[in-house]
Amino acid sequence: MSKAIRLYEHGGADRLRWEDYPVPAPGKGEVLVRHSAIGVNYYDIYVRSGLYPQALPTGLGNEAAGNVVAVGKGVRGFRVGDRVAYQGAAGAYAEERVIAADLLVKLPRDLSVEQAAAVLLKGLTAWCLLRRAYPVRRGSVVLVTAAAGGVGLILGQWARALGATVIGVVGSGAKAALAKRSGCRHVIVGYEGMAAKVRSYTKGKGVDVVYDGVGKDTFMAGLDCLKPLHLMVSFGNASGAVPPVSPLELMRRGSLFLTRPTSADYLRDPATRRRAARELFSQIRRGKIRVVIGQRFALRDAALAHAALEGRQTTGSILLLP
Ligand SMILES: NC(=O)c1ccc[n+]([C@@H]2O[C@H](COP(=O)([O-])OP(=O)(O)OC[C@H]3O[C@@H](n4cnc5c(N)ncnc54)[C@H](OP(=O)(O)O)[C@@H]3O)[C@@H](O)[C@H]2O)c1
Repeated sequence: MSKAIRLYEHGGADRLRWEDYPVPAPGKGEVLVRHSAIGVNYYDIYVRSGLYPQALPTGLGNEAAGNVVAVGKGVRGFRVGDRVAYQGAAGAYAEERVIAADLLVKLPRDLSVEQAAAVLLKGLTAWCLLRRAYPVRRGSVVLVTAAAGGVGLILGQWARALGATVIGVVGSGAKAALAKRSGCRHVIVGYEGMAAKVRSYTKGKGVDVVYDGVGKDTFMAGLDCLKPLHLMVSFGNASGAVPPVSPLELMRRGSLFLTRPTSADYLRDPATRRRAARELFSQIRRGKIRVVIGQRFALRDAALAHAALEGRQTTGSILLLP
């Protein structure tokens, strides 16, 4: 038996239940991992609320780090005691869980389990966005919304490391200083009037790429920030899902491009996941990306973590500790 957070019906944070959950022995190709830290992501809120429907009951959470405590048949490359992390497998809000060994990455010595649980999903997402969806280069001009959030802080730092000029937008003055210390050349406070401010920072030209995880409240203003023929990367819905949009809106703003990526598609291949993780860990080792853990909660208090994230009270990553 392990303790885990389970969901039986969609709704608010009060639907999260803390209960005993049976943990099977690992099967072929699987390992049993004891979690030391679990990452909270906005995705978990979409699953809880029903925006991203999943069969119920279900476990929650997609990112954690800890130690291998048992190994199933046919597993190569992992032993009991190894420090590991994973992302992209539902059921991380648990003390222990069984998982396919294929999904694990071994942690380098210089990365703590807390850092790994704070950075793996968000950092690999950043990799998909700025190495694949729109490859950022020296001289790129980049707009990041929610720039002091979990993904936002990593995106800003990584884009700067690649030589970009980063403009961040944050919801409050208190978040602006953190965004400024974390890669942003300019920080705009508040989404109202965002496009006009972006135009003034770019001498009227606009930006090469918008990375927008806020969604409904910023999508159209984000389009207004782009140079003609450039790319809107709409990768999240923290303020709600973006409503249907006519392709004419892209034409009117200069033949823009739009993509709505999910990292799962970019990271399907295990070799790609490992390569992306190596790049991420290397940026951290070189001091280009500082892992910011803004808040920690006991695992049983996951509902408090959700309320804080939805209430825009958090910065950087949030951890649940078993
Ligand atoms: N496509 C993918 O594969 C993928 C993978 C991972 C994450 N994501 C997306 O990336 C985004 C960031 O995820 P995260 O886990 O790192 O969360 P986060 O950025 O730490 O938190 C969300 C932030 O969004 C901003 N926000 C603006 N309006 C909001 C509203 N009405 N309600 C709540 N928040 C609002 C808030 O920052 P301000 O107060 O500064 O505005 C808030 O802190 C999410 O949309 C998530 O779904 C996508």
